[in-house]
Amino acid sequence: MTTSRREFLSAGALLAVGMGSAGLSDGRVEAQDKERGAVEYKAPARPVIVTRVTGDNTIAEAYAMLEKGADTLDAALHIGQGREDDPNDHSVGLGGLPNEDGVVQLDACVMHGPTRQAGSVAALENICHAALLAKTVMEKTGHVMIVGEGVEKFAIAEGFQKENLLTDDARKMWLLWKEHGKGWWGPGIDSPEWKPPAGAPKAELMPRHPTREQMAMVTERMRDLYALADRMGIEPRLRREAVMQVMWPTTGTIHVSAVNAKGEMSGATTTSGLAWKIPGRVGDSAIIGAGCYTDQNVGSAGATGSGEENIKVAGAHTIVEQMRVGASPKDAGMEALRRIAANYNHDMTRLRYIDMIYYIVRRDGAYAGVSLWSTDEWGKRKNFVVHDGTQRTEDCDYLFEGTPQNLHSI
Ligand code: GLY
Repeated sequence: MTTSRREFLSAGALLAVGMGSAGLSDGRVEAQDKERGAVEYKAPARPVIVTRVTGDNTIAEAYAMLEKGADTLDAALHIGQGREDDPNDHSVGLGGLPNEDGVVQLDACVMHGPTRQAGSVAALENICHAALLAKTVMEKTGHVMIVGEGVEKFAIAEGFQKENLLTDDARKMWLLWKEHGKGWWGPGIDSPEWKPPAGAPKAELMPRHPTREQMAMVTERMRDLYALADRMGIEPRLRREAVMQVMWPTTGTIHVSAVNAKGEMSGATTTSGLAWKIPGRVGDSAIIGAGCYTDQNVGSAGATGSGEENIKVAGAHTIVEQMRVGASPKDAGMEALRRIAANYNHDMTRLRYIDMIYYIVRRDGAYAGVSLWSTDEWGKRKNFVVHDGTQRTEDCDYLFEGTPQNLHSI
């Protein structure tokens, strides 16, 4: 690298002159945007953060960071790292549930509105802070995405600590799954070859609670798993969670979108991905435009849920593009959910096995959380957290009334 800073700057100046005719700074681009129906959103009165429930103080801390002028991506990462560091959160970082070989593989991506940069990592092993590593890819390389062995090497070169992410609890849950669980091989639910699990109801609409027949099957399977967990020596304190994770493998993830009072915004998504996945499987959380998308002029969105489905509708990008032409965050999110339903021709027998929540904030501070289904497996309304000066949990708006099932629960 022999180019001096002076040469670099003058080359940049020449390039800018060359681009002058494109009118990047003379207002014509903005005028063209308006002609195309793009809405100009003003900055909000105060910062806004939307994310998943975390159960720790990091959301309030991130909000305080924004009030003191911290970068929106750093605030978003603060929340993500709280989860990544928590061994009891089995959806991200340390303590994340492993793949079918018992190896924890993480995915993450970030987008930084002010610089319009993005970074992503996938199938990352042995490094806890996947979202920070995605930011490091963004800042330190000319790439957007680095995966697998390469990203582990990059992380170590950048000073990240190598550690075993498989906790004892996660390992025991994996062992139970290996003994009695079902994997992800075979046709997916979008395949014409796919058949619903034996005993699955074929009702047009999703019942809020399982049918009696289905309930009996679920109860029997749970009983078997509890007995197996006992025989395997899994402690009583862990048994219930282990059984639940075998029957309803987590698709949990953490997404954070944030805007500050200057209207600057960022998004970050981090996950250990689908539990018991096939090694090398990458979900939506590493995919810019699916698990996370931020456009400095418009807004930011991200997802938790069935990664495969979200990739196919480029969910976060779809949402931001809807808002660009004036949609409210709620309507934009509903449109992405409708596209998932449309991919299945509204076949409820298949859609019942899909779960999705979108977290959305527009540049002007309007926000929404929207979910495909109204309730979780406990019958509790799907929710999200917003902080706009006051932190609160709000119910998601939803497309379908009912509870998603899991292919592994029956
Ligand atoms: N949404 C996380 C995943 O599917 O990997």
